[in-house]
Amino acid sequence: MLSGATTAAGPDVGTSSSDRERYARCIAISKRVRWDIDNDVIRGRTFNRADKFLPDGLSMAEDVGFLSADERRFISQVQGRTYANMFGLVERYINTKVLELAHNYRMTDQVALEALVRFSEEELKHQDLFRRIETLTKEAMPEGYFFLPKPNDVAQAVLGKSSWAVLALTLHIELFTQSHYRQSIEPDEGLSPLFKDVFLYHWKEESQHAILDELEWVRHDATIGAQERDQAVNEFIELVGAVDGILQMQAAADAAYAMHFMTMRGRRLAEAEQRAVARMMLKAYRWQYILSGAQHPHFVKVLTHLTTDSQRTRIGAAVATLM
Ligand SMILES: [Fe+2]
Ligand SMILES: [Fe+2]
Repeated sequence: MLSGATTAAGPDVGTSSSDRERYARCIAISKRVRWDIDNDVIRGRTFNRADKFLPDGLSMAEDVGFLSADERRFISQVQGRTYANMFGLVERYINTKVLELAHNYRMTDQVALEALVRFSEEELKHQDLFRRIETLTKEAMPEGYFFLPKPNDVAQAVLGKSSWAVLALTLHIELFTQSHYRQSIEPDEGLSPLFKDVFLYHWKEESQHAILDELEWVRHDATIGAQERDQAVNEFIELVGAVDGILQMQAAADAAYAMHFMTMRGRRLAEAEQRAVARMMLKAYRWQYILSGAQHPHFVKVLTHLTTDSQRTRIGAAVATLM
């Protein structure tokens, strides 16, 4: 059973007027920023192999001094392809959770219900967008790329944890989505215009998702006791470990693919250099999908509000092993 299926912000919990306003504001923003995959984002464009996809601040390709500019650009393309696939992956579980939360409001708060239904519809559209991006990157890049994790397997594993842990993970993801765009993707002048637009439009609809994640997490937190929360902290740590397992697997696959590309072009890396490429890939993925979210000031603020010092010490110790 999905724990929290009937308790997360349960049906009997009323909505305060300030919460109601926040749900209503999310609906208004959702209506205003709404976009279409073909007419607004893709507009008949394809990817160009001469363009960088993921910015240096996220890819860390610049950290490997022995790579040529072409090789670093290829690494930014491999990581960018995985970046789009990773969002498509997590959005499967996020949408399933959002539908479960929406269910709690179906006979009560119709404003919260509409906000969550829109959230769900947007994540379905984003998954479609990221499938389209995988097809377009596949056309532009050489054979040999594999995205290994399976969306339904990951969703099943994540949703086996308590709602508190799942909502913590979700807020962390939706906050780092925004900071990556604002701090790294938007200011980089050298990125593929199509790649940049994908994440501009994605970011536009993600801002209100993080507000809803926080509302739901805080409301759910108020319905559980200290012991249940303490167990949920352990489950959140387990989820971070599971994310790291996925990152280790995909970083190894992506490093192998990047080095295969180099070999095809006649470049032979020494063993120490191969290890350096693999290390850079994992370091970049841990930064992208765990550390940049765990250190996000707003995530830290909400977590601090909901947990004790000793619980945060436990989380901090788990995250520190990934640095
Ligand atoms: Fe999304
Ligand atoms: Fe989202």
